[in-house]
Amino acid sequence: MSSFAGKNIVIGVSGSIAAFKVAGWVSALAKAEANVTVIMTEAAQRFVTPLTFAALSGNRVHGQMFAPDAGEEMPHICLAREADAILVAPASAQTLARLAHGLTDDLLATVVLAAQAPVLVCPAMNSQMYNHPATRANLKTLRGYGYHVVEPASGALACGEQGQGRLAEWEAVWPCLLRLLTPQDLAGKKVVVTAGPTREAIDPARFLSNRSSGKMGYALAEEAMLRGGEVVLVSGPTALAAPAGVRLKPVVSALEMYEAVLAEAADADVVIKAAAVADYRPAEFFADKVKKEKIDLSLKLCANPDILLELGRRKRRGQILVGFAAETGNLEAAGRKKLAAKNLDLIAANNVKADNTGFAADTNQLLLLSADGGSELLPLASKSALAAMLLDRVAAFLA
Ligand code: PMT
Repeated sequence: MSSFAGKNIVIGVSGSIAAFKVAGWVSALAKAEANVTVIMTEAAQRFVTPLTFAALSGNRVHGQMFAPDAGEEMPHICLAREADAILVAPASAQTLARLAHGLTDDLLATVVLAAQAPVLVCPAMNSQMYNHPATRANLKTLRGYGYHVVEPASGALACGEQGQGRLAEWEAVWPCLLRLLTPQDLAGKKVVVTAGPTREAIDPARFLSNRSSGKMGYALAEEAMLRGGEVVLVSGPTALAAPAGVRLKPVVSALEMYEAVLAEAADADVVIKAAAVADYRPAEFFADKVKKEKIDLSLKLCANPDILLELGRRKRRGQILVGFAAETGNLEAAGRKKLAAKNLDLIAANNVKADNTGFAADTNQLLLLSADGGSELLPLASKSALAAMLLDRVAAFLA
């Protein structure tokens, strides 16, 4: 599973009122068991005290190139060598200019220049400063160096103006940072994931559906994105927010999912169908709510198309097709039958009868069956951990 645990992350804080927000980020990373070291520019120390970051990170905060207590150490070299990733946030106009021009007149810019680790920059400043050609050119230069940038958000700024310049939210930043720390074995691959239930309308007030929460599919989409995939998530109605960096295609019914998936799958390298698609829909949709006293107690149904079956028919050479099988008994036999019938490379069979697997649970257990006869029972684990294990197998197929 992609994770911050054990990673050495250097955070460079520069002079902006948004510096206080980064205290929360340091705390979140420390809770995720990352080893965080903060470097503050002189200007940053006017907004937030180093003690705040030291307390939250559990590590000494660095601020000077030539600290009196540094002894023989060269902090810029030690910090640069140890970093698995460098996050510059908030990045002021001054710091962007320093980094773009390779200046070494403060510790932060010197560490970035000396490091080989990936760099993620989160600018924050007044919108005029942000849109000034000098700042735009500096950002272009930084992108040219291979640095990654999370654009600031638009809205009310601390200076009282409105515009683009607000430090991006942590929810947008952490996936970019984690992606820099994750092996990119799906880079350049288009991955289509389906998730959630479908709803089959009876009338404007009622529908047929199932207990899928979307957790399994969303975990797969997030993990595929972190591993560098270009991810499209075709999702039925769920209470979940789409992971940042994933393109969401919301659908409601099986017929809508059919259209969306077939359109996206045409040029996909990998398709993973974790959605619980309704096999049947009401044969008739009543335009007005059916009155209780008029209801006919038998509901006529008709079959929905089997999306995965159709994907199997259309499967291109080299495309990897992964299905799920929701079962209540004999996972192996039922899974193998679906694997063969739908022309899949891999199927993940799960028990939807137990409390800690299948629908809505945070955990799951998957029996992976492959077209070459392989069979592997993955352990009971979080859906995120299982998503990573499943994608390890997919990446191996692609390789
Ligand atoms: O969403 P969660 O709460 O996290 O729950 C996860 C899950 C239990 C929904 C998931 O792990 C799972 O098992 N998904 C598949 C559910 C299902 O519809 O299984 P099935 O055995 O009925 O279908 C087999 C495969 O055919 C599935 O990949 C399904 O997406 C696909 N299918 C089914 C019917 C249909 N009309 N079109 C399809 O594409």
